[in-house]
Amino acid sequence: MKSIQTPPSRSPSARTEIAAELEARTGLDEAVLRGLVHAFYGKIRNDSVLGPIFAARIDDWTPHLDRMTSFWSSVALMTGRYHGAPVPKHVGLPIDWGHFERWLTLFRETATEICTPAGAAHVIERAERIARSLNFAVEDARGSGIPNLA
Ligand code: HEM
Repeated sequence: MKSIQTPPSRSPSARTEIAAELEARTGLDEAVLRGLVHAFYGKIRNDSVLGPIFAARIDDWTPHLDRMTSFWSSVALMTGRYHGAPVPKHVGLPIDWGHFERWLTLFRETATEICTPAGAAHVIERAERIARSLNFAVEDARGSGIPNLA
């Protein structure tokens, strides 16, 4: 018997179908997403502003790149491969919206180089939404998102 994950929001076969449909529509698949992740973090590591923030926290890039490939597989192809909690990992970082904008600039540039136009549009739209909500969650967790009415 196959193991059952609790609680599955979609059955594995429904996930596979959705992933196949998204792959056909966007030209994205695991190999393209892995290429995107590697090229993107290559730029990040060379960036004078963002590079040092990552370098201070990541010693071994191999697990980070694998985790980010799973993340993008979940986000772009709905495969459910990523299991993690990004917000707590960003709360303590020395970042504000300006850093997210820089991150997005490099992401848009890389996606345009690596993906088909439809694939690039798909991942860029998701990255923009996640960056906004991550920035909001980080500010909120730091207690600066809501005005102090006391
Ligand atoms: C200001 C820009 C950003 C910076 C400086 C940044 C930095 C980092 C760092 C240093 C880590 C590793 C943390 C650790 O393992 O201790 C990390 C993890 C991660 N980041 Fe970001 N990040 C940024 C924006 C984003 C955005 C926009 C996304 C999503 C679109 C994202 C998604 C993730 C995910 C999924 C992880 C893995 C979390 C886990 O361990 O499961 N990050 N980030």
